[in-house]
Amino acid sequence: MTDASPVIRLRGAGRTFGGHRALHDVDLTIRAGERVAVLGTSGAGKSTLLALLNGSLEPTTGSVEVFGENPALLSGPRRRMLQRRIGSVSQDLALIEQVRVLHNVNAGRLGQWSTPRALASLVWPRSLGVVRDALDRVDLGWALHERTERLSGGERQRVAIARLLVQAPELVVADEPVSSLDPVRAEGVLGLLGTSPAVRTLVVSLHQPELAGEHCTRVVGLREGRIVFDRPAADVGDTALHDLYALT
Ligand SMILES: Nc1ncnc2c1ncn2[C@@H]1O[C@H](COP(=O)(O)OP(=O)(O)OP(=O)(O)O)[C@@H](O)[C@H]1O
Ligand SMILES: [Mg+2]
Repeated sequence: MTDASPVIRLRGAGRTFGGHRALHDVDLTIRAGERVAVLGTSGAGKSTLLALLNGSLEPTTGSVEVFGENPALLSGPRRRMLQRRIGSVSQDLALIEQVRVLHNVNAGRLGQWSTPRALASLVWPRSLGVVRDALDRVDLGWALHERTERLSGGERQRVAIARLLVQAPELVVADEPVSSLDPVRAEGVLGLLGTSPAVRTLVVSLHQPELAGEHCTRVVGLREGRIVFDRPAADVGDTALHDLYALT
């Protein structure tokens, strides 16, 4: 069941990089409670689309609204307030490599803390119980005091998920959050994102259509920067997937 309020509204949103058009005039409305997978080949524009949603990128044409605001145009406290409601996992994970895992997980709370409190936490870590609990949920309880740079790709990916669990945002925008995980752990992480009571709305890019079918309510297929289908997950058949991934 979804309620009526749109969390995301893109109208004619496009993005070019130099002369290259990565995204063409995308119209997309996502409502509270929806779990949307974005599928498409490498280079189809998934990361570009997701970056428009979390405000890390501005559209070159059209408009983007998240919770009624254009994230890329906000600054100061209003931007921080919006960012607190959006949890992001970027494809590069955006972890600080040189610090211990617990600090990266605690970074999920930076939006809720004052600057002095956040800085003090680097010396005297706060809320260790919450951090430990989030790490336990991604099977990384043992890594609390490890240096982040020593972890494997899949372990680092799970640290980024733990950071998200600590933030408990209303909207999660996750760009290939399970790309380095084995199949069982990928299931586990998507299950966490799908069932976490705090996460009301999810937009996730994936390279595994079967995971999209299992964990999402709706699937958007992107091809060469355009939406080629947008339908309930149950209605995405083999033909649509074949056309989406066919090499030109
Ligand atoms: N910062 C950038 N500068 C120049 N071109 C870019 C930039 N970011 C993306 N592009 C180009 O835009 C297109 C879409 O890229 P994008 O990263 O959104 O694809 P993707 O679907 O996320 O691919 P992947 O599955 O490999 O992550 C690609 O052709 C890419 O080369
Ligand atoms: Mg990408």
